[in-house]
Amino acid sequence: MKRRTFAALAGAAAFALTAAFPALAQTVTIKFSHVVAPDTPKGKGALKFKELAEQYTDGAVVVEVYPNSQLYKDKEELEALQLGAVQMLAPSLAKFGPLGVQQFELFDLPYLMDGYDDLRKITDGEVGQTLLGLLDDKGIKGLAYWDNGFKVMSANSPIETPDDLLGLKMRIQSSKILEAQMLALDAVPQVLPFSEVYQALQTGVVDGTENPPSNMFTQKMHEVQKHATVTNHGYLGYAVIVNKAFWDGLDPAVREQLDRAMAEATEYANSIAKEENDWAMAEMVKAGTTTFHEPTEEERAEWIERLRPVHDEMASRIGADLIQQAREVVAAD
Ligand code: LMR
Repeated sequence: MKRRTFAALAGAAAFALTAAFPALAQTVTIKFSHVVAPDTPKGKGALKFKELAEQYTDGAVVVEVYPNSQLYKDKEELEALQLGAVQMLAPSLAKFGPLGVQQFELFDLPYLMDGYDDLRKITDGEVGQTLLGLLDDKGIKGLAYWDNGFKVMSANSPIETPDDLLGLKMRIQSSKILEAQMLALDAVPQVLPFSEVYQALQTGVVDGTENPPSNMFTQKMHEVQKHATVTNHGYLGYAVIVNKAFWDGLDPAVREQLDRAMAEATEYANSIAKEENDWAMAEMVKAGTTTFHEPTEEERAEWIERLRPVHDEMASRIGADLIQQAREVVAAD
């Protein structure tokens, strides 16, 4: 009896599948791997994409989301995507250098943007699209930009002005711009995978780091960082990318529904990013383990003065024209 019910259900599911997508013989699985907590802008965006993709394809596509570096750490996940072991990722824009598309490090330039409106001008315009197009040659297709937020600088000693970073070991993502930024502060940059940051801070392997509040809070870094300054000196966000051969090989009707799901998930992720970061900041302030410093106007000017030279210093890596184009876009009304 039970078996017959199951068979009937399976038959109905197969009928639904073939009715919606006649060319599909079986379900398509998308493994979406990422390194942050589910309760972050990226984590929530990934779950929204799963929900919509499965709904719009009537279950013909199943999306498996693996958060928190469960499957792969930073560098490995990019290799896994190229090998086809996973189909979808949303790495931070600071992590595309090892793929040979270091132009994405544009987004790491300190004080390039003053908030989400400036960011949107870059991601939604020609600069953003040009950058995604550079991925094609790497066997990767760029689908969308997902926001996180602007970074605070944290450490175990007060870091109110740039001089306070002298000699501190600071964890960074694998971006040469971020390396140059820490060197400009006379700090010692150290690249570490995201999954290792909490422990490195806890054990003193590094003294400090930089993060948007959502990442700092969900990884409990505020428990092992006594001080932080709300510098908002740089941006951290993502490009959602897929294995190109996989994507191009999908049934066009399925891909159309996935594009629709991605567009809506993107809108959703980008609409919650700021409030997620504001919430995380409020939670950390409430927790009271970190003292947050809001720079004065004067201090902010000092941070800018110290960090802006990184733009010219790193122009040859990213492209002076691209930097100029981004600056003009940001300055335009
Ligand atoms: C980091 O390594 O600090 C971030 O890229 C993690 C993330 O994906 O937000």
